[in-house]
Amino acid sequence: MDAAASDSVFVIDHPVIQTKLTELRDVTADHRKFRTLLDEIAGLMVYEVTRDWPTRPQPVRTPLEQTTGRVLARQVTLVPILRAGLGMSDGVLRMLPEARLGHLGVYRDEKTLEPVSYYQKLPPDIAQTEVLLIDPMLATGGSGSAAISFLKKAGVTNMRFVCLVAAPEGIAALHAQHPEVPIYCAAIDRQLNERGYILPGLGDAGDRIFGT
Ligand code: PRP
Ligand code: URA
Repeated sequence: MDAAASDSVFVIDHPVIQTKLTELRDVTADHRKFRTLLDEIAGLMVYEVTRDWPTRPQPVRTPLEQTTGRVLARQVTLVPILRAGLGMSDGVLRMLPEARLGHLGVYRDEKTLEPVSYYQKLPPDIAQTEVLLIDPMLATGGSGSAAISFLKKAGVTNMRFVCLVAAPEGIAALHAQHPEVPIYCAAIDRQLNERGYILPGLGDAGDRIFGT
């Protein structure tokens, strides 16, 4: 894993993830293939994203003797940003099956590129948990920043933003508002185009996942 633009931006450059990301970017990948790849990459990213989470000792009896293992110290909450974040949920949940789920509905206004929040539902005790905020794309950073602001209002202090492709503009904007929130991604792409799409990117993630 590369610590990239700053100490709190991590690029997970694992060869298996990079291979799948390249297949995902391919314009000829249909929604079935796109969904499968996104799900697989999200699951693989969990290993690096959670690498330094705290653990606590837990007694366990093996078939041979009593010993002490280690388990995650805190409960986990997964928060996909709707819609496209849903495409990563199952992959992450396979690795963290005890996690609870919150949902934040945010879309980008196509003209202004400003985030529009339309739905929020979080577990009541989310503030005491480790939170993974997931969305495949960090473009202008508006949607991610709005989601983080909402999580902070709910008392969340331990959170990580996990995306696939990040634009330099989005990283800068998100960290201007929320410098303490680490960003994990599989790639930092070149730039945004005039319509706020990431170049080279992978297109509109939501449309490619859902076939819309
Ligand atoms: C996409 C993506 C992010 C957002 C990123 O969602 O999934 O949420 O754009 O762009 P930003 O960083 O400039 O805010 P979109 O608005 O297309 O909504 P959808 O997931 O419902 O398709
Ligand atoms: N949202 C997407 O889905 N793709 C982009 O390139 C930018 C924002």
